[in-house]
Amino acid sequence: MTFPFLNGGGKREQVFAIDLGSRTTKAVLLDRQTEGFTLSRFTVQDAPIYDKALPHGLLTEHLSAIVTAMQPKTRQVTIAIGASDSVLRATELPLMPLHEMRQMLKFNAKNYLQQDLRDYIFDCYIVPPQGKPQGEPMKTGVVKYKVWVGGIRRELLLTIEASVKGAGLIPANVTLSLLGPVNALEFSQPDVFAKEAVALVDLGFKTSSISILADGELCLSRSMELGGDRLTAGLAEAMNITYAEAEGIKVGMPQEVESHLQPLVAPLGRELRASIDFFEHQREKTVNKILISGGPARSEYLLQLLQTEMGVTCKAWFPTQGLKLSLSPQQMTEVEQVSSILTNAIGSAAMSLS
Ligand SMILES: Nc1ncnc2c1ncn2[C@@H]1O[C@H](COP(=O)(O)OP(=O)(O)OP(=O)(O)O)[C@@H](O)[C@H]1O
Ligand SMILES: [Mg+2]
Repeated sequence: MTFPFLNGGGKREQVFAIDLGSRTTKAVLLDRQTEGFTLSRFTVQDAPIYDKALPHGLLTEHLSAIVTAMQPKTRQVTIAIGASDSVLRATELPLMPLHEMRQMLKFNAKNYLQQDLRDYIFDCYIVPPQGKPQGEPMKTGVVKYKVWVGGIRRELLLTIEASVKGAGLIPANVTLSLLGPVNALEFSQPDVFAKEAVALVDLGFKTSSISILADGELCLSRSMELGGDRLTAGLAEAMNITYAEAEGIKVGMPQEVESHLQPLVAPLGRELRASIDFFEHQREKTVNKILISGGPARSEYLLQLLQTEMGVTCKAWFPTQGLKLSLSPQQMTEVEQVSSILTNAIGSAAMSLS
């Protein structure tokens, strides 16, 4: 699913994508080969720390460091914006040209998206109606179509555009991290994407997201302000220790503090359960897989806690397993460790391939 807030277009030999997370920035390079694409380099670096609005200079400096680590041949870059700075909503709209749809949302966001998003820039994806033969034109006028609307704060988009240029790059696409897992699944496991009902959960630092897909269609997307940061901060408070100590315990020996972690993970389990119940009721289909990505998904123990909360098997997933790899020997040994963290960067790169 493509959301080109800025779109360079054209078939690319190499795709360079950066996922701007609130804790870590991830970048990947995909190179075109005779058949398909290969992952040739990646990096995971600490995100810049700032107070409220991200200063342009700081982001330029950060992106320059990413360029140094990645040594891309291409100057074109795809940037994925995190869930804290973007929205993704489904709505119903009459069919009209995309630019008109975007204008209409700009002035009536509250009506269509139930939220006052005055300073946002929107892009839309019109879901082709089910059962309609390929190639048959959609009807304009009063018939309403399901539309996924993506929005990014205008000020942030401008900062990103300026910083990307400042780092010597061309902002070819800007997309939403929220779509990363969906696009990554389509890219790395096309059969599962096309035929199964799957819940994709991306656990981050500040936020986590839930996407439910059935037969290749995105049916539900939710994000919540709960991630690794809340777990660590909650643990620090409950145990009366520092944040750094709590982080060490969370990563190193979470089984020792289950009674503190369980109530912190519970709201995520409840939200996930509610989303799955809603989907299953509406679509009369059963979600048969929950695939988890992001930093906290590295913890087998946290996945176990979530699974107990949910009563459904929760597994970390590794989008690099479906890809051809032409990494350096050093990165070859590291890739398994970071694979699930690279999900959104890989999904964003995959989105920019055509
Ligand atoms: N082995 C581990 N066990 C538990 N938590 C972990 C582990 N490794 C990383 N984390 C947690 O993952 C979090 C960072 O995840 P990630 O890098 O995916 O976030 P982000 O993408 O920057 O954030 P966001 O998606 O909210 O913008 C941190 O809170 C960290 O504590
Ligand atoms: Mg993230």
